[in-house]
Amino acid sequence: MRAKLRYRCQDCGALQPKWMGQCPDCNAWNSLVEETAAPAAKAAGGNRFAGYAGTGSIQKLDEVDLAEAPRISSGLSELDRVMGGGITGGSVTLIGGDPGIGKSTLLIQTLAYLGNIPALYVSGEESAQQISMRASRLGLQAGHIELYTETCVENIIATILDKRPRVVVIDSIQTLFTEQLQSAPGSVAQVRDSAAQLVRMAKQHHISLFVVGHVTKEGALAGPRVLEHMVDTVLYFEGDPDGRYRVLRAVKNRFGAVNELGIFAMTETGLKAVSNPSAIFLSRHDEPVSGSVVMVSREGTRPLLVEVQALVTDTHASQPRRVTVGLEHNRLAMLLAVIQRHGGLTMHDQDVFINVVGGVKVAETGADLPVVLSALSSFRDRVLPPRMITFGEIGLAGEIRPVAYGEERLKEAAKHGFRHAVIPAANAPKKKIGGMEVMAVKRIQDIIDLDFF
Ligand code: TYD
Ligand code: MG
Repeated sequence: MRAKLRYRCQDCGALQPKWMGQCPDCNAWNSLVEETAAPAAKAAGGNRFAGYAGTGSIQKLDEVDLAEAPRISSGLSELDRVMGGGITGGSVTLIGGDPGIGKSTLLIQTLAYLGNIPALYVSGEESAQQISMRASRLGLQAGHIELYTETCVENIIATILDKRPRVVVIDSIQTLFTEQLQSAPGSVAQVRDSAAQLVRMAKQHHISLFVVGHVTKEGALAGPRVLEHMVDTVLYFEGDPDGRYRVLRAVKNRFGAVNELGIFAMTETGLKAVSNPSAIFLSRHDEPVSGSVVMVSREGTRPLLVEVQALVTDTHASQPRRVTVGLEHNRLAMLLAVIQRHGGLTMHDQDVFINVVGGVKVAETGADLPVVLSALSSFRDRVLPPRMITFGEIGLAGEIRPVAYGEERLKEAAKHGFRHAVIPAANAPKKKIGGMEVMAVKRIQDIIDLDFF
């Protein structure tokens, strides 16, 4: 029997018996989402989200059994790394990313590696033939993987409880539907309810679950953000679609560090872990060009050398354009304002484009100095010295602020043959590192006064 449906406003939480375009309580538009009136899990205390990790009894913290179940290796060292050291029993991992980036391949490879650990691949997206053809095209030893093409959550759960696999892949959550709700697969209510049922099952029966989720144009996981709260680990698979490398980023992890990066090379035979990735994103120019600088960023626990490029050119529109790829857009506007106010250089009649080469995303503030250097280099059409690196944060008062792990970044750059560094004065090492010439800067004016500008 179908449970009674009702509609909850996602903004104010008010309940309505019917769907409406506008919430009568808070006047938000298009915020009503259907849900079932009867709590699905009476046994779990009436709260349908309860019972995720519960034992049902009260314990003292120091009496909790800490003996951690051994983690299962995924066979890809970089995937193990972002997950915090392998797959944890009963963990739920959400993997997001653009279509075609390699999510299905990554998971098929993992299951292929697991060998005799019972695993199940549930596909709502591709047919068994498609998956099998891809596996054989990539030359994977995947004959033992159990495939199940199904989109009804209730059937999937029944099959899992019958077969008892230890690892389950759901590809993808947007294709699933639960019989409890009437809305179409992929809708907010369907995605959330399907995921909640799967997560509850994984926790109760100690099954490691991977859930693939699609990413919208805005870059968020499609469907509700609430998915991210329900799962233990959220991984984003990113990279330049035409490029050779892929980056897997942990944005949430209950079993390891966040912001850890795993780096893979995409090959004819599937994904290969890149264990020493620090310089793979550097492009090699034959001749030095203006507007390009190498930044040493530190993503996760490793330094990474990336090229930041700028193009500053006369604007022909009434509004100058500010475009960033791989960096936060607002940060660029802020930096241009700081250059204007504290450096006396105005770019209000210039379009400014900034690009991080290789499809990498840099989220840390250490990118400020690279952005300013590359923009000035392009603006004045001056080539920066070859073999130069930079990193550093810029404050609103025009001061250059230090970033964490300065020494480690310099060492990594020296290892790759870099000889000059423009860095915050507070990051300047007391002793010379690897013969590196350090130009320490304190204020925005110090940058503009550098010899090469
Ligand atoms: P796929 O895993 O299907 O992407 P997603 O599930 O994220 O949409 O990968 C897309 C295609 O790229 C697929 O035809 C296989 C191919 N591919 C390779 O040839 N080598 C690789 O290393 C990867 C990751 C994918
Ligand atoms: Mg896929």
